Amino acid sequence: MKANDQEVKVYPAYIAGEWRFSESQETIAITSPWKADVIGRVQALTQDEVDQSIAASKAAQRVWADLSLGERGDYLNQWASELEKDKEAIATAVMNEVGKNYNDAEKEVTRTVDLIRYTVQEALHMHGESVRGDGFPGGSKDKLGIIERVPLGVVLAIAPFNYPVNLAASKIAPALMAGNGVIFKPATQGSISGIKMIGALDRTGLPAGLLSLITGRGSVIGDYLTEHPGINMISFTGSTKTGKHLSQKSIMIPLVLELGGKDPAIVCEDADLDLTTQNIVSGAFSYSGQRCTAVKRVLVDDKVADQLVAQLKPAVEALAVGSPVDDSTVVPLIDEKAADFVQGLIDDALAKGATLITGNQRQGNLLAPTLLDNVTEDMDVAWIEPFGPVLPIIRVQTTDAAIAIANKSNFGLQASVFTQDIDKALEIANAVEVGTVQVNGRPERGPDNFPFLGVKSSGMGTQGVHNSILSMSREKLTVMNLR
Ligand code: G3H
Repeated sequence: MKANDQEVKVYPAYIAGEWRFSESQETIAITSPWKADVIGRVQALTQDEVDQSIAASKAAQRVWADLSLGERGDYLNQWASELEKDKEAIATAVMNEVGKNYNDAEKEVTRTVDLIRYTVQEALHMHGESVRGDGFPGGSKDKLGIIERVPLGVVLAIAPFNYPVNLAASKIAPALMAGNGVIFKPATQGSISGIKMIGALDRTGLPAGLLSLITGRGSVIGDYLTEHPGINMISFTGSTKTGKHLSQKSIMIPLVLELGGKDPAIVCEDADLDLTTQNIVSGAFSYSGQRCTAVKRVLVDDKVADQLVAQLKPAVEALAVGSPVDDSTVVPLIDEKAADFVQGLIDDALAKGATLITGNQRQGNLLAPTLLDNVTEDMDVAWIEPFGPVLPIIRVQTTDAAIAIANKSNFGLQASVFTQDIDKALEIANAVEVGTVQVNGRPERGPDNFPFLGVKSSGMGTQGVHNSILSMSREKLTVMNLR
């Protein structure tokens, strides 16, 4: 029986401590990218319900902030345990809703459990400092400054579709440990997974109203949430376009943005090509390239380009393509529009003279992994983020040329450098304008205790457990004038 033949489940939102259907009486259909069926409906909330959620969070936050760190940590540790119990159900929801293969979906839940537990430990071990005034000319030892970290208030956490569980928890857990309330807005495609993970949090008996989960239409609640005077900090992961819009709307509100990327893999003449091939292929094509940190262009020294392409071709062709339920690496893209976009980039490159090494087949929103050689700077695929399974190879004559092309991008998330020369690796790492450089490895966010940041159009502010806690709290200075 097809999912459409069954009753489609209607999911409530979690507003002000209650699971509720919206007073709008409207819902939004969630369509599975690979079953092409409606697999559920979520609530289209009203602005009034947003107000109620923020007011409830504000009220609950004051009490929450008064709890000890240990007490807050107990709730979060219990959340991690509840998620662990629900691992299979949540991983299945992720697979059905965003088309991630089951193994990766399950790994996402495990990573989230680890992240929450680590966040608790990190928060327990963070502390303020004190300073005496006599360190400054003319200052007095009798002035003792006590510097503590205090919460910001209510954090708006906006998560993307590609990690609907992990990138939600990587905002919610530090926000709560820092003593904040949370308004969680999952990506619409990702809401069901979000609802399930918040179901696990609800079972911990979290104080009513402290966290609300908001679903709805961007046109109704998008800007309304961003500009809401009750929101004290925004942590957003998603597209650069939306991130820029948020930063224009959220005036004087602390904002952390994790946006797009065009991460280059810079391959030097002396690179270990086996290692390079393995990292480029998994970096570019896992989850069909729907990762901000995917390898999105190869800048290879012409002297080893033929050899690299000869190794990449069979490795790309060996990738499992198909349904996430069969554990495929390359799976249908999130929707048809996304596939059209990637196809447009491939067509443009081929029309302008790129060489098709493999791929360029399509079945609906499932695109075969596509490798394009001899890509030049006049082609869109050299600069635009596809968020799909296409990898352009740009041949360069020198390392300087590779660095120049790497830095010409508007993006600056991560870059990989493949070389066996440590001095050259550091020289390139120093020259590329990105948040992180991976030497002889693929770009990736984890391990989650590392700082994670992008520069230029790739983001603003730093995440990673420690930095997220910092970004969701502020310093408060109390000066003791002792005499
Ligand atoms: O899509 C953006 C994510 O932050 C990438 O995370 O490197 O663990 O896949 P990842």
